[in-house]
Parts: sequence; structure tokens; C-alpha cells
Amino acid sequence: MRTTWDAAAASDRVEHYVGDPATARPELDSLFSRLGDDRRGGTCVEVGCGPGRMTGLLAERFDRVIAVDVSPAMLDLARRSVTAGNVELRLVSGSRLETVEDGIADVVVCYLVLQHLPGRELVVSYLREFARVLAPGGRAFVQLPVLGPGLRARAWRLGRGIAVPVFAPFRREVATRPEYRGFRLTEPELVRALSAAGLRVAARDESPSSPYRYAREVFLRLERT
Ligand SMILES: C[S@@+](CC[C@H](N)C(=O)[O-])C[C@H]1O[C@@H](n2cnc3c(N)ncnc32)[C@H](O)[C@@H]1O
Repeated sequence: MRTTWDAAAASDRVEHYVGDPATARPELDSLFSRLGDDRRGGTCVEVGCGPGRMTGLLAERFDRVIAVDVSPAMLDLARRSVTAGNVELRLVSGSRLETVEDGIADVVVCYLVLQHLPGRELVVSYLREFARVLAPGGRAFVQLPVLGPGLRARAWRLGRGIAVPVFAPFRREVATRPEYRGFRLTEPELVRALSAAGLRVAARDESPSSPYRYAREVFLRLERT
């Protein structure tokens, strides 16, 4: 994961991989408003901050922002672009949020990140980590693709799970690598993962038009059970 995202940070198309800085504010406002909770104040943990497209905006809303990423190169870009004094940038391994303390977060924000994790266990582990770092009464605002029902979608996931790692060594482009293409949980897998993590869905919304093949774009406000 680190190699892939460091390569994305070093490319001259970083916005292509991360998202358009010009739309960061409406995207962030929409994440909170569509989940009916315009949270402000306290400590926010931003998971997968990238070059800080949303980090400065979170620093306007919250007293303290701990922004983590798997990529040192992304964190370097964030260090240059985010000047707010209430932001701490921290590196994580990619399978856990080990540099974030238990129960510290009034809010967790994870946007355009879970879609890239290259395996079921990693997504499940991150949901467990959200529960671990949430303070009592805290909320996680999470965006992720969820695989649609039916055999066709399952077959597509299976084929993609085989083809992407097989062809990745022959293609250097970041967007073809497993760590960019990611894994999609099904709805029952998501329900089981949330329950195992000790999280409940307090609010849910979906994009009317999904940018993902065979998957819906889902937004969740999660609380500890
Ligand atoms: C598409 S970018 C989104 C960045 C930011 N959330 C935004 O919307 O502007 C995905 C980011 O997640 C980071 N990332 C990927 N896998 C990660 C992991 N396992 N843990 C933490 N960050 C990760 C990447 O390095 C990258 O910076």
C-alpha cells in the first residue's frame, strides 16, 4: 500500500488519484449533511488524509485534527499544504491505526479510502479500528462502496480479485494496482463486520448514481454499540 500511494504522491497527476481540491468543501459538507449530523468541536481523526485536501477544512470545524495516512509521501504533501496549528499528521502501517490512541476521537472521518484497501480483512480491521479509537458518544463518518446483490456482481469480484494481482506486475500505472483497485464487501459482509467491530449504523445514505462498477456508494454514520 505504501509503495503504491507514495508513487501516486510523486506523480504529476496526484489530484487524479486523490480527488479534486476544488470540490473538497462541498464533498465534506455533503458527507456530514447527508448523514444528518453537522459535527463541530472536539477531536477528529481523519483516516487516509492524502495531501490534505480535506484536512484544513476539518481543522476549521474541530478543535484538534489527527490526520493519518499509510504514505509518508502523502503526509509530506499534507505537511506543505496544511498550515493550521491544530493538525497532527501521523503515519500508520495500513492494516491498523496503531499511532492513534484508544478512545481519542469524537469524530472519525474516512472518505475515499476503504474503497482502496486490497482485501476483505483490511476493511474489517479498519472498521474495528474505528470502534477502538472512537470516544464514548463519538461518531465515524465513513464512505465506502458496497457490492450489489446477485451472482453477476460476485463473479465480477472474483474475476477482478484474480486478474488485478496477476496483471499488476506488468503495468506500472498506479490505478491498475491491487492497492488502488481495492476490495468490495457485500451488504451481508458489511453487516457482519460492523457487528464484529461493535459498531451500529446510526444513519445511512447512498449516492443516486454510483461511480463504482457493480457496487453502490454508501455513506454511514457509525456509533459504538
Ligand atoms: C483517494 S485518496 C483520498 C484522500 C482524502 N481522504 C481525500 O478525500 O482527499 C486515498 C488516501 O488514502 C490513503 N490510504 C490508502 N490506504 C490506506 C491505509 N490502509 N491506511 C491509511 N491510509 C491509506 C492513501 O495514501 C491516500 O492518501
